[in-house]
Amino acid sequence: MDEYLNKGIKEIITEFPQIESVLNDYDIGCGPCTVGICLLKDIVAIHRLSANQEQELMARIDKAIHPDKDIKILTKEKRTESKATEFKYSPPIKKLVDEHVLIKRWIALIPEVIIDLDVESEQGRQLIRDGVDMIRSYADKFHHAKEEEILFKYFDENSDILKVMHEDHTQARGLVKVMLDALERRDQKTISENLMAYRELLTEHIRKEDEILYPWMDNQLSTRQVGELFAKFAEADQQMGFSPDKYEHFIDQLEIKFEKRRIEDGRI
Ligand SMILES: [Fe+2]
Ligand SMILES: [Fe+2]
Repeated sequence: MDEYLNKGIKEIITEFPQIESVLNDYDIGCGPCTVGICLLKDIVAIHRLSANQEQELMARIDKAIHPDKDIKILTKEKRTESKATEFKYSPPIKKLVDEHVLIKRWIALIPEVIIDLDVESEQGRQLIRDGVDMIRSYADKFHHAKEEEILFKYFDENSDILKVMHEDHTQARGLVKVMLDALERRDQKTISENLMAYRELLTEHIRKEDEILYPWMDNQLSTRQVGELFAKFAEADQQMGFSPDKYEHFIDQLEIKFEKRRIEDGRI
């Protein structure tokens, strides 16, 4: 078993596909991860499992790798449904978790934006411009910049988990670029596909941050570093030069518009 601890999880899943569903039982979603460079030992370390759960998980992985070996698997502990609500974040990390809320409200609206989309009309094009502005200014400049330029600097940026986070941010920027190019050509299909890909990417990215990365980081930050981070985030927000209220207003308006449409269509 020890020989697998330093192996990449993707490589292990390729060799033993049943391990993906074992990990899923512990809310460890390595299967859909597009980067997949984390090592098995990191996966176990960064997911906050109890000692019993960790022992049980390792035994199940060991059994999947060595089906003929006699391995005792302890009874499975019941896991609670939502882990995010159990976390007690430090104030600066809580600020980032709270910023995710507006991004999640935006990505929840994307399927309805697509239904409504008509890039031949000025109104349709403006909706995409506004949505892209929300992604670029709020999600990227206001939020991801604080992660990349401040928070991540407190940790080893060459660690696998941070490489995965950076990679997600880079992929999101790539999708936005494709959307803007498609908007120039009024290519509705490409815009819709890339909006949905953005939604999928960010949903999983935010879940990883809220449930895995941030709690792991919080565990390692000293009280002095927590205070320092809080001050640096406040300073960064001040220097941003725009108020996030504008984006909250954009989301509020869209939610009202789509709710009205659902009522008119008799869907609620
Ligand atoms: Fe992020
Ligand atoms: Fe984030």
